[in-house]
Amino acid sequence: MFSKPPEEIPIVADEIQLATEDARAREILSRMTLKEKFQTLTSPGIRRIYSTKPIKRLGIPSFRVTDGPLGVAYHSSGFTKCTRFPATISVAASWNRELARAMGIAMAEEIRSVNRHMLLAPGVNIARTPVNGRTFEYFSEDPYLTKELAIPLIQGVQSKGVGACVKHYAANNQEIDRRSNNSVVDERTLHEIYLRAFREIVREANPWSVMGCYNKVNGVFGCENEYLIREVLMDRWGFKGFVMSDWFATRPIETAEGCINCGLSLEMPWPIRYKQKALMKAFEDAKFTEETLDDLVFRLLRVMFLTGVFEEPSALPQGSRNTAEHQALAQRIAVEGMVLLKNEGDLLPLNLEGLKTVSLTGPNLKKKFGRVLSGGSSAVVAPHEITPLKGMKEKLKGKVEIVSDASKADVAIIFAGLNHSKGMDSESYDRTNLQLPEEQIELINANAKDNPNTIVVLIAGSPIAMDKWIDSVPVVLDAWFPGMESGRAIANILFGDVSPSGKLPITFPQKLADSPAHHSGLPRNYPGDEEKAVHYEEGIFVGYRWFDEKEIAPLFPFGFGLGYTTFAFGDASVLSKTSDSITVNLEIENTGERTGAEVVQVYSHDVQSSVERPPKELVGFEKIVLNPGERKSVPVLIKAKDLMFYDVHSHDWRLEPGEFELQIGNSSRNIFSKITTGI
Ligand code: BGC
Repeated sequence: MFSKPPEEIPIVADEIQLATEDARAREILSRMTLKEKFQTLTSPGIRRIYSTKPIKRLGIPSFRVTDGPLGVAYHSSGFTKCTRFPATISVAASWNRELARAMGIAMAEEIRSVNRHMLLAPGVNIARTPVNGRTFEYFSEDPYLTKELAIPLIQGVQSKGVGACVKHYAANNQEIDRRSNNSVVDERTLHEIYLRAFREIVREANPWSVMGCYNKVNGVFGCENEYLIREVLMDRWGFKGFVMSDWFATRPIETAEGCINCGLSLEMPWPIRYKQKALMKAFEDAKFTEETLDDLVFRLLRVMFLTGVFEEPSALPQGSRNTAEHQALAQRIAVEGMVLLKNEGDLLPLNLEGLKTVSLTGPNLKKKFGRVLSGGSSAVVAPHEITPLKGMKEKLKGKVEIVSDASKADVAIIFAGLNHSKGMDSESYDRTNLQLPEEQIELINANAKDNPNTIVVLIAGSPIAMDKWIDSVPVVLDAWFPGMESGRAIANILFGDVSPSGKLPITFPQKLADSPAHHSGLPRNYPGDEEKAVHYEEGIFVGYRWFDEKEIAPLFPFGFGLGYTTFAFGDASVLSKTSDSITVNLEIENTGERTGAEVVQVYSHDVQSSVERPPKELVGFEKIVLNPGERKSVPVLIKAKDLMFYDVHSHDWRLEPGEFELQIGNSSRNIFSKITTGI
């Protein structure tokens, strides 16, 4: 593919611990026969598709993994009910690193309690198109926001001795033809947009596994892609964990040695290319060396040691699931992730004391989202799920009457959105457009005619077009998929127990054709040409980078979200500089009457660059809570590495001398202070 890159010095967070695990793994490896090594590289077969084959002779137990990004999935945990956390996009919308870490810790505790060793999460693919069916399982359209939240989440998971498996490596950005399409991406775009979060995660969080994708990248399937896995992930970034295939991703691959030589340690869900006979034949034909094989097995064994596979289960932390703490955390993330998109006339927050009647409608009012495989492999089934109706009833009980006629209600609330069925935010299917189903649009407009105080609560994991109804309603709240405590979280936001503080991690376009992958309307850009090649011709201009560059007004911009209080911002200044960072400082005051949180966002633009750079790129943020009248200065750290671009001549990251314009705001389109400075 691209020519040989320079080596990078890996940063390995737990080098000391690894040294111990290294020795233990090497010792076991030295006693394994060739056949045993082959057996370790896959599952025992159709009945155990989330485990490796134990090797009794050497006392190697089975290593067990489970989905997924929203917590411990039902189908891969022996049908165990566990805490259903909000969708990844909701965590991203919280812009809260500590919440991401706490979620990682809690998910790991749940994993332990179901006796598994690895969480098949987080998903860190970039939102190239807003209709990707798995947008809800990923963080953002922006690599910086993605890695800033994925890193603490992974650190949280692994701090409990449970492995994280970062997926899906790489450029797996749509569900249509996901098992056969070919993402055609130029070198700079690949590194700067689609690999960037993976790289930072590997270097800072040291994930114990990475999952290879289904699709091809520049003509080569993810699980036999030597450039991506061997050269970039392992040699350049210094990845120390092991690579596993996505389920059946090896099917279209022709040879076993293709997977072995690229660095695939674990083929899932069962032997396809890694059948004993095929492996032995390829080995005898000298298609791969024992040294290469040993490295793959060694990587896997070492993670088995790290995750306690070799310990007596009773000697390991037992973990816990469905605790009050985990459920409270799920609720807190849901609350912090909700994005208030419109609040005309300050209709929200509602006042429990002042209201007499409320009407509640919409397809998501009574919906429970946690059902087996609903939405795909991320489906967690919780012991209970507080639907919007239940949450509202709890809140209104004895105070406000629920009426069925919207025209007779003080306020009409509609719970609209998507539902994880095919094409409605689900793995394996993209959405076909950005609109809500027609009947929902009719419902909203009809309600709005009957009641000017109509509130739309969206429960969905991806952007929604609103041109057909937004002007008729004063309030729109995006709750994403808020998890098992959703009804309570929504009620607490609507009634002002907490001020909304979520910010969009993804641009909401006015129409699909405004967004980069759909702009040309040509199949070659989405969903693929007759050869199933998807040409990423928008290059690095993905998400808000595109909307800014092309000067397209989005419906709601990246980073946007309202609250119930007001803030005043001072002028930003440079607080300090080191050789590899700049810290900017900003005074911020809560000038409203409620406690609230704001996210100070710093975007950079390289004013003197030898290559084209986007008008702005997120390079720093801080979330801060302020009481009414409170004033604080907020330092925001910007690391030099986040100001870099990927240089195709040196095949490496580069920071050019010269000035950067730092744009400070509370959304990508509301910049209130600018500083021009060099580093
Ligand atoms: C998904 C993965 C998931 C795997 C195992 C695949 O279909 O793409 O994200 O981890 O199944 O369930």
